[in-house]
Amino acid sequence: MYNFRFSIPTTIYFGKGQISHLSELAKYGSKALLVYGGGSIKRNGIYDTAMKILGDAGVRVTELSGVEPNPRIETVRKGVQLCKTQSIDMVLAIGGGSTIDCAKVVAAGALYEGDAWDLVIDPVKITKALPIFSVLTLSATGSEMDAFAVISDMTKNEKWGTAGDALKPTMSVLDPTYTFSVSKKQTAAGTADMMSHTFESYFTKEPGCDVQARFAEGLLKTMIKYGPIALAEPDNYDARANLMWAASHAINGLIADGSKPAWCVHPMEHELSAFYDITHGEGLAILTPVWMEFVLKKDPSTAVNFAVYGRNVWGISGDDDMEIAEEAIDRTRKFFTESMGLPANLRAVGIHSDEHFKVMAEKATKGSAGFFVPLTSADVVEIYKAAF
Ligand code: NZQ
Ligand code: ZN
Repeated sequence: MYNFRFSIPTTIYFGKGQISHLSELAKYGSKALLVYGGGSIKRNGIYDTAMKILGDAGVRVTELSGVEPNPRIETVRKGVQLCKTQSIDMVLAIGGGSTIDCAKVVAAGALYEGDAWDLVIDPVKITKALPIFSVLTLSATGSEMDAFAVISDMTKNEKWGTAGDALKPTMSVLDPTYTFSVSKKQTAAGTADMMSHTFESYFTKEPGCDVQARFAEGLLKTMIKYGPIALAEPDNYDARANLMWAASHAINGLIADGSKPAWCVHPMEHELSAFYDITHGEGLAILTPVWMEFVLKKDPSTAVNFAVYGRNVWGISGDDDMEIAEEAIDRTRKFFTESMGLPANLRAVGIHSDEHFKVMAEKATKGSAGFFVPLTSADVVEIYKAAF
């Protein structure tokens, strides 16, 4: 296990009615930028509740609405402009990962002299940010409790993740009832996303990280148990609560710190989103089983890792690691497609041509040094083709 620094400064208020704690924003100033998406928070009533609490607490609100799924740099720039011209004290995101990510970069951009895109492509430039708060409405990305933000410039087919301690929210409200209205498609995609975050850290060649691995297995079992229940019963509190809390822990450092994982499937998916604007979790569900098969074939010594996964997460028994590994991958694919109704291939999400695969693969392997199994850009083209 490597040395590490584990730091989560985010206060979490978890459960029904915890939105009342938005009154605490008054401690941070009197002007908040409220960031939200296409209007789901108005339809399910969270907007009205939040506005009342903020108003009663004496916090004045300026709005940045219309944040896109796969949030755009243009929207971030609008938010930065509002913060600078209106002397905003803090940024409050109400929504899913896209809204929270946009709010994070707005908060950093507000205290940065140059263009906000600099902060997306060069995390070192993120040294400070306005205080960030979130009310989470979709369980998936973990943005509510992590240091990351992912922003796109669709004019250049660029989608990059950035990170910084300053991007960790000061406080996040996690009320599972706020996710009752999430569609089946987004519930399934969110479950695939949190599972992928777990896989990205879990599949590592670093030995001796048992704490991280056993936590990861517990998270995966929870996601596999409750994902289908949330699909069948959207207002099942326990299902929504367990997914919500599992998603936060999948990416807050708990299972990654100490094993230095280099994420591999995410860079491949970010290229799909950058070129085709698809739903992040759907892209991950398509690529993950294909990636697993590819690395097992390329490096058969990984049968040990996939067999541990098969035994501990899926309860597969037997002595032959390779057989268990193959069955575990098969179960993963069936879980995504059959239990969660996620798309099985790239054509199912509207990608009908391989014309960009080469350039996408080159970008996806830029930071490939620490991958679980090192992949060349030619390997990634193979993975895209197999996912086709
Ligand atoms: O925009 P609104 O109207 O709010 O609707 C959203 C959006 O259409 C809707 N939605 C959210 N909460 C809802 C709801 N609809 C009904 N009821 C609710 N309670 O769901 C749609 C998708 O929302 P979005 O925020 O885009 O989804 P998600 O949370 O999956 O975020 C995806 C983005 O996060 C990035 C992804 O790349 C993608 O851009 N990621 C961020 C990460 C991070 N910050 O750590 C890590 C991830 O790996 C990921 O890359
Ligand atoms: Zn993700």
